[in-house]
Amino acid sequence: MQIDGVPYRTIWLAEDGHTVEVIDQTALPHAFRTLALATSDEAARAISTMVVRGAPLIGATAAYGMALAAREDASDEGLAAAAARLVATRPTAVNLRWAVEAMQRDLAPIAPAGRAEAAYAAAARICDEDVAACEAIGRHGEALIRKAWDGRRTVNVLTHCNAGWLATVDWGTALAPIYRAHDAGVPVHVWVDETRPRNQGAALTAWELQRHGVPYTVIADNAGGHLMQHGRVDLCIVGSDRCAANGDVCNKIGTYLKALAAHDNAVPFYAALPASTIDWRLASGRAIPIEERDEAEVTHITGLAPSGEAVTVRLTPEGGRAANFAFDVTPARLVTAIITERGVCAASREGLAGLFPEAAAAEA
Ligand code: MRU
Repeated sequence: MQIDGVPYRTIWLAEDGHTVEVIDQTALPHAFRTLALATSDEAARAISTMVVRGAPLIGATAAYGMALAAREDASDEGLAAAAARLVATRPTAVNLRWAVEAMQRDLAPIAPAGRAEAAYAAAARICDEDVAACEAIGRHGEALIRKAWDGRRTVNVLTHCNAGWLATVDWGTALAPIYRAHDAGVPVHVWVDETRPRNQGAALTAWELQRHGVPYTVIADNAGGHLMQHGRVDLCIVGSDRCAANGDVCNKIGTYLKALAAHDNAVPFYAALPASTIDWRLASGRAIPIEERDEAEVTHITGLAPSGEAVTVRLTPEGGRAANFAFDVTPARLVTAIITERGVCAASREGLAGLFPEAAAAEA
């Protein structure tokens, strides 16, 4: 995607060929800053502090984290320790484990002296594959948006959190179909859930859509049901952090409530995700670990003061407690279909295995 005419991915290598650069997503939408990650610990910290976030980008950053680790200590022990540190950063997005395991598999047969070079090549491959997958998700999802279009009226899509290009290496998952439809001349308007507590919708999705010229409106998280009752949502598209083998879909907290409202109002509800987000080891979404984050993300909020400075203010009474569950699971029965890089399928083991028979068989 482009920022002020300059093409960007969310992660790339600096000119020295080994330092990793990322967009600091904690500064958006008020400032565009990039950050250099020179060590595997810095890569791990970027994931845990959500400088980078979104399941595919977490995976890509972890892959480069392994490449940085291979420069630091390419022994089996060194790589195993780095892998453990990276995997421990965030528990829910399975792309993290997927990427680290892929890197370990690639590096294991190579002698330590050759591992750093091989690791950078493998991480670059993971990034390129993510871009291709998201581009294909965009193509398959665009067909669904076109299906919802009567040729005249604007298509209203509701999305939750940020599953745009910032959450991936490029394109995004849930937003890729929207970008493609918009670019092809289909009139699309997006209802953007603000996505408390970290406001990925209000801050990141709104920023992305605005940059791309896609019409959007930010809504409070609780507004979606009302809009669906009044026929103002044609379809919902969300991303996912982990999809169980039965098609249960885990995504940002609040997604489940949107799926319930969509079901009650016969609004199609799609989850867009690449193969790297499918956890074939989990029979159902019940076993997906749900990240619980610092309560300060709920009790406080950060925004831009009139002075132009970012300020953090308290929302809740001093001394009060808060809980911060970061994700929830939407049961497959509430998901109309899953949009993947290989096409659109039913949210079920059969549906997913039909598109990814080799992966289903490998983990069976
Ligand atoms: O906590 P975050 O911001 O990493 O959560 C991100 C999401 O929930 C996204 O919807 C998901 O990762 C899909 S990204 C294409």
